[in-house]
Amino acid sequence: MNKKTIVILGATCNLGVELSFIYAKNNFNLILISRNSIKNQELKNSLQQKFKNISVLTYELDILNLDNQNIVYNNIKEKPIGIISLIGETHNVEKIYDKKLISIINVNFTNLINFLSYFLKDFEKRNEGFLICVSSVAGLRGRSKNFIYGSAKSALITFLSGCRSYFNNTNIFIMTVLPGFIRNSKDNTNRIQNILQIEPSVLAKKIFLAHKKKKEIVYSSYLWRLIMLIIQILPNKIFNKIKF
Ligand SMILES: NC(=O)c1ccc[n+]([C@@H]2O[C@H](COP(=O)([O-])OP(=O)(O)OC[C@H]3O[C@@H](n4cnc5c(N)ncnc54)[C@H](OP(=O)(O)O)[C@@H]3O)[C@@H](O)[C@H]2O)c1
Repeated sequence: MNKKTIVILGATCNLGVELSFIYAKNNFNLILISRNSIKNQELKNSLQQKFKNISVLTYELDILNLDNQNIVYNNIKEKPIGIISLIGETHNVEKIYDKKLISIINVNFTNLINFLSYFLKDFEKRNEGFLICVSSVAGLRGRSKNFIYGSAKSALITFLSGCRSYFNNTNIFIMTVLPGFIRNSKDNTNRIQNILQIEPSVLAKKIFLAHKKKKEIVYSSYLWRLIMLIIQILPNKIFNKIKF
C-alpha cells in the first residue's frame, strides 16, 4: 500500500497525541515535531508498538528558533504530503511583559507561518498537499483576558484564509480549526465548563472526519459556532462590559 507521510507539529500536546494515533491507524507515516524530545520519543515508541507497518520520525524544534526551523526542514528527506499544526501558546494579560508579548505573537503566528511556508512551497511545486492548522475562537474577537494571543490567532486565521484563496483550483487543501475550550486536565469542572469543553480525543476525531470530507472551517461544536456568531455581532458597548 502507498503510505503517505505527514508532519504533526506540536505533536506532544494531548490533541497532537490523539491525532498521531488516528493518522497512524489510517496508514500515514508520521514525522513528529515537538520541542520536547523526551515526550516525542515516548510518543514514537508507543505508536511503533501499536502500528508496526508505518514509519515514525521525530525532530526537536522550538518554533522560536528560526535557524533550527531551517535545519529541521532540510533534514526531512521524504517531504510530507500534509502538515497538521497544533502549536499555540496562550497567556494571562496581566502577566505579559515586552519579551513575552513578542514571543506569544511569534509562537502563534510569525515563526509558525515561517515554518509552515517551507512546506506550502513544496505543495505548490507538486500541486498536492494539505495544511490543517489549529487556531482558536479567541481569534474571532479580541477578549480582555488574552487579546495578544487572540490577535496572533486572528492573524493566523487570516493567513489560512489567504492561503485557501491563493490555492483555489489546485490540489492543495487548507483547513482552519477553531476550538472553544479543550479539556486538558482531569480536574473536576462545573456543568457549564463541561458543556463548553471538548476532549482532545473527540476533537481529533472531528478533525480527521472533517479532513476526509474536505471541510475548510471546523469548530469544536455547534454550540461554539453559535456562541461566536453572537459574540461577533454584539455591539461594542455590550461586548466591552461582559468581560467574556
Ligand atoms: N486549550 C484550549 O482551551 C484551547 C482553545 C482553543 C484553541 N487552542 C489551541 O489548540 C492547540 C492545542 O493547544 P492545547 O491547549 O490543547 O495544548 P498545549 O499543550 O497548550 O499545546 C500547545 C502546543 O504548542 C507547543 N508549543 C508551544 N510553544 C512552542 C514553541 N515555542 N515551540 C514549539 N512548540 C511549542 C506545545 O509544546 P509542548 O508540548 O512542548 O508544551 C504544544 O505541543 C493550540 O494551538 C492552542 O492555541 C487551545
